[in-house]
Amino acid sequence: IMQSFTYLSPTEVVFGKDTQNQTAEYIRKYGGSRILLVYGGGSVVRSGLLKQVRQILEDDGLPCEEFGGAMPNPTLEHVREGIRLGLDFSADFILGIGGGSAIDTAKAIAIGCANAKTDVWNFWCRKEIPTHALPVGAILTIPAAGSETSNSSVLTNAATGSKRGLSSDLNRPRFAIMNPELTYTLPLYQVACGVTDIMMHTLDRYFNPIDNELTDAIAEALLRTVIAKGRIAIQNSQDYDAMSELMWAGSLSHNGLTGLGGPGDFAVHQLGHELSAMFGTAHGASLSTVWGFWALAVYPTKPARFARFARNVWGLQDKDENALALAGIRATVAYFSELGMPVCFGENTDIGIQSDDVLRDLAYRCSFQRSRTIGTFKVLDEEHIYEIYRQANQ
Ligand code: NZQ
Ligand code: ZN
Repeated sequence: IMQSFTYLSPTEVVFGKDTQNQTAEYIRKYGGSRILLVYGGGSVVRSGLLKQVRQILEDDGLPCEEFGGAMPNPTLEHVREGIRLGLDFSADFILGIGGGSAIDTAKAIAIGCANAKTDVWNFWCRKEIPTHALPVGAILTIPAAGSETSNSSVLTNAATGSKRGLSSDLNRPRFAIMNPELTYTLPLYQVACGVTDIMMHTLDRYFNPIDNELTDAIAEALLRTVIAKGRIAIQNSQDYDAMSELMWAGSLSHNGLTGLGGPGDFAVHQLGHELSAMFGTAHGASLSTVWGFWALAVYPTKPARFARFARNVWGLQDKDENALALAGIRATVAYFSELGMPVCFGENTDIGIQSDDVLRDLAYRCSFQRSRTIGTFKVLDEEHIYEIYRQANQ
């Protein structure tokens, strides 16, 4: 039966063409008067978006400071620099412009600036729980991580090689400006990584021990839509219809909706985070690299769930439940391959085939030095985790 839950998705979504023109209006609505603009490696400089937004804010009398350089898998060290800048500038509103990496950096700076006496990493390694943050807004340029409406922000501590997410409603942006045309400059590889991550946010919720008809049906519809529109976007990242559907799916996939009433699994995200932390691989690619091996390891726990997935998402039929479950797993992995995503270590150019020592180390790290298990569909300990990495090492 459905588990008890709370559902909070307070982000005001401003969706459609030219919506970035309303940025000043929304910042004022949510109390901002001195704005730190946080962006990534420069795509928004090259596209002219950063300049355009800055102009809009300044024309409205809103002073701005810029902080660029958030890299994919953004780092704690960079966030600390942003916090110092935000404090020096007396910023009272943080605007992330870009993808999950820029928006996650903006969220972390917002928490850091509001808790200037605490080292921000304490919140990410759960030594302390944050109780306040500066307000954050987002202008999204890639349909992917879902950070624009999610409660999460993921940072990598480069010094220790650990990648950690902080889930807190303080992380929910006040507003998200989502103009699908802002994604047109995306390289196709990033489109593919984004499609994979959107699917994974729903898959990591859908495969949980509880059946919930409405939630499961929403999840299946989302997956069918992303699979179909992903096929179009991977050929042409300037297809407005495909990019709109993907962008909206990206938000719905990670605002909680597709997993309500069940305990999310998220093992694949945990397996992937260790690969990104150790090898720097893009988030979407870290997930496609392990999903198939995770699925093969866990489906015997409840083949009916995987059979339902095969039927309702892939339109497959088979009287034999096990055979149908396996066919659904094969179809999913084949789809990742069709997108050009790596589906094992050997195909992932950041990783490659690894020694047994490295696999053991990955499993040890993923189990947080043997202090946790991951997953709910099937609970996985260090040994199970090692076995999945070992299978993926081909
Ligand atoms: O850095 P720039 O120069 O902007 O380039 C980015 C980056 O190289 C580029 N890009 C983005 N929009 C573009 C563009 N290039 C051209 N035109 C555009 N319109 O794409 C590359 C990837 O961007 P990134 O922000 O890293 O992508 P994504 O949105 O996938 O974010 C990944 C990060 O988010 C975390 C991941 O772990 C990873 O660190 N996640 C955050 C979540 C959350 N906050 O809720 C949930 C996810 O599960 C995920 O863990
Ligand atoms: Zn993700």
